[in-house]
Amino acid sequence: MSDNTSLFQERLKTNAAAVEACLIEILSAETRPDEIARPARLMAAMRHGVLNGGKRLRPFLVMETAAFLGGEPQATLRVAAALECVHCYSLVHDDLPAMDDDALRRGQPTVHIAFDEASAILAGDSLLTLAFDIIAAPETPLPDRQKTELVRALARASGIGGMAGGQALDLAAETSTPDEAGIITLQAMKTGALIRFACEAGAIIANADAENRRLMRTYGETIGLAFQLADDLLDLTADATTMGKATGKDAARGKGTLVSLRGQSWAQTELARLVGQATALLEPFGASADILIETAHFVADRKS
Ligand code: IPE
Ligand code: IPE
Ligand code: MG
Ligand code: MG
Ligand code: MG
Repeated sequence: MSDNTSLFQERLKTNAAAVEACLIEILSAETRPDEIARPARLMAAMRHGVLNGGKRLRPFLVMETAAFLGGEPQATLRVAAALECVHCYSLVHDDLPAMDDDALRRGQPTVHIAFDEASAILAGDSLLTLAFDIIAAPETPLPDRQKTELVRALARASGIGGMAGGQALDLAAETSTPDEAGIITLQAMKTGALIRFACEAGAIIANADAENRRLMRTYGETIGLAFQLADDLLDLTADATTMGKATGKDAARGKGTLVSLRGQSWAQTELARLVGQATALLEPFGASADILIETAHFVADRKS
């Protein structure tokens, strides 16, 4: 393992531990100002959907892009936690019977299996709104202008023009196969939008100039596409124990993916091309971009 790879692994672990502690605190049973009560069973379902492992890649991207550009650490950690709440909500709903109908997530029963469907729907709803609460709250030490930008960018990344819209297109791709451009659009939306937000958020928190903000968006878009391409390859090649979720699902459902359309070896080559494109963006920055370069490799080479 190269020095950069072990540094990356170390940072992935320490960032995940920091975000975990923040999420545990946020998802406590204690009622917050202006709340009326926190129903215990719904709270338990939310905790099940969030505090159940996961790579914590999106928080990692917020934290490392902010560190790269000089963002305030406490605000960074809270925005990272907010984004993980949106991601976990998307997984809880993605696993519902009306969507992918999955029973296993992160090696544990999905929320609708461990609890019930209504709890899974409401846990997702509550996690999504909680994310905006976390960003806007006084505990996030950022000027209101930056908070507004984060709220708007996260809303756009999560909603009809981002993740949720992409999920609708993804489900439609089970009955009518889109062409390559259509698949790229749906993947850029269902998965790419939150990953791009993660990287752009680092730039917003650091109050970066327009050029660096664009750079982080492009980097995020590129690794976002690579991330879903790797997920589709792993769905075909990996086993459920390693992945902590069922595999072989895309083929079983006849879902149109780049892997089903263009084949496995094309997908491997495309993955390498996307990683090359992402790392080329950062080469001018020398060693200060080492972690972000290593992240692009991780997205493609990961085994789970
Ligand atoms: C899974 O995301 C959903 C996709 C967008 C493919 P991750 O692979 O990041 O899942 P966790 O958070 O590590 O469980
Ligand atoms: C999920 O895509 C994208 C989300 C927005 C949750 P998948 O349906 O392929 O994710 P997995 O394979 O269930 O994690
Ligand atoms: Mg899905
Ligand atoms: Mg799924
Ligand atoms: Mg998948």
